[in-house]
Amino acid sequence: MAAQDKNPTAGAQARGAEASRPLHVAIVMDGNGRWAKRRGLPRSLGHRAGVEALKRTVSAAAEMNIRWLTVYGFSTENWSRPAAEVAELMALPKRYFESDIARLEREGVRVRVVGRRQGLSGELVKLIEDAQARTAHNDAFHLNIAFNYGGQADIVEAARRFAEDVALGRARPEDLNEQTFAGQLSTADSPPPDLIVRPSGEQRLSNFLLWEAAYAELVFQDVLWPDYGAEHLKAALEIFAGRERRYGAVLADDVLAAG
Ligand code: FPP
Repeated sequence: MAAQDKNPTAGAQARGAEASRPLHVAIVMDGNGRWAKRRGLPRSLGHRAGVEALKRTVSAAAEMNIRWLTVYGFSTENWSRPAAEVAELMALPKRYFESDIARLEREGVRVRVVGRRQGLSGELVKLIEDAQARTAHNDAFHLNIAFNYGGQADIVEAARRFAEDVALGRARPEDLNEQTFAGQLSTADSPPPDLIVRPSGEQRLSNFLLWEAAYAELVFQDVLWPDYGAEHLKAALEIFAGRERRYGAVLADDVLAAG
């Protein structure tokens, strides 16, 4: 990752006019259950349709020159769903990688799965490690799949690692700042998201990228995830382009106007 991508302010400024297009888009893939219910189908078929929407959206994002896409596939809270649904959700990465990993590898996509490995089956962990290894050399497009991921858990684990380093004399409390802390998160290899999209009409983050969302623009769309596609992503990008990003500062024009 280019150094400027790490810092949202420097990144956007250095990219100038390009800043009207997000470098990194993150999506809460929500609404599979409702999509299925409306059709009188089991929820599992909503999740499978969600995988198809993911495929469409990855292609659309790459075509729209987005470089980083992070999608929320399974949260640390999703374990509380009925066992049969959890099993169906656990099968989705396999379904996706079996059909798409060869093409993703060929098309220059680097795949990373962020989140806890603890709790996942050995077979799933191996599948994830293989997908990551197969695409590790790619740099054209970065796809992060948040799976068994929780923003709070990620922050707590980063804090615990730092506390252990201090206890072992490998770090001093004063070494901790926003940059060093962000470097401990599971998303440390990615720039912060510029845009977080949530379809399905719900308007909350649901424990997704809590630290990383500090200066992200949020866009909520009234479409269920299985229906999501290029036109919805394009609409989200248009909303983003109309937003004024100030990162807590004021715009130069406003400074002049204030005298
Ligand atoms: C939330 O919708 C969605 C999920 C918990 C699963 C999201 C997963 C996918 C879309 C496929 C992911 C693919 C991979 C490769 C991991 P919901 O079921 O809570 O919908 P509802 O709010 O309408 O009930």
